[in-house]
Amino acid sequence: MAALAPQTVLDVRHWTDRLFSFKTTRDASFRFENGQFVMIGLAVNGKPLLRAYSMASANHEESLEFFSIKVPNGPLTSQLSKISKGDEILVGAKPTGTLVQASLLPGKRLYLVATGTGVAPFTSVIKDPEIYERFDVVVLIHGCRFIEELSFGREVVESLKDDEYLSEIIGDRLIYYPTVTREDYLHRGRVTELLDTGIVARDTGLPALDAAEDRVMICGGPAVLADMCGLLDARGFEEGALSKPGTYVIEKAFVER
Ligand code: A2P
Repeated sequence: MAALAPQTVLDVRHWTDRLFSFKTTRDASFRFENGQFVMIGLAVNGKPLLRAYSMASANHEESLEFFSIKVPNGPLTSQLSKISKGDEILVGAKPTGTLVQASLLPGKRLYLVATGTGVAPFTSVIKDPEIYERFDVVVLIHGCRFIEELSFGREVVESLKDDEYLSEIIGDRLIYYPTVTREDYLHRGRVTELLDTGIVARDTGLPALDAAEDRVMICGGPAVLADMCGLLDARGFEEGALSKPGTYVIEKAFVER
């Protein structure tokens, strides 16, 4: 397979002024693990302009889906945000990434902690039937500045209830915990504070974070990753990788600079 394959845009949705998602065709030969990312982009002046994007769709789905921020004057996203149905985008052939089950030791509960577009790998992971075989409970914690920025993730979570196959597997074992920092909402505060102070445990009725039983995947900006790592390290969690599975794994949310 060539290093980059053109795929056709099937659908584009704009969620806020800053956020959009799009679906594309997928080659049958394009295989990935839920939670991984790949290079995607556009041909600009005859040259591929690429950035890393997590697959927001699951590997059992026919099409690919991506969730993106629009960076003002960002070389790629300022172009990508203008795509429409029928356009072509380039998709790399080599998905990779650490937010995969094999990087984590077995555990009871899986916490997926995301801020902003960092929710993308987790909308893939929560559709993975295997994750519910490995864990009793999956908790998706998504922090954004404003309520409307939660919409993409919330819609994916809600769509699972209409999925006959997955809804049966999941039952009530997926806990969705959305929180915002800059307006009033059901849950308010940074994901780190809510976990650190035990507010998530109080609200969900789950035990306090425990390295013996809990596993954590984190995707967010550099400051979120640093703070989450500090919080988990202090509780005896150890970062894992494919070569040495651990009790948590991190990936930077890919924001165009
Ligand atoms: P805040 O509003 O307090 O900055 P962004 O849109 O900048 O990527 O932020 C997404 C969310 O991540 C916001 O709710 C933001 O909160 C939060 N955030 C920013 N820095 C941190 C951090 N170090 N730890 C946890 N959450 C953070």
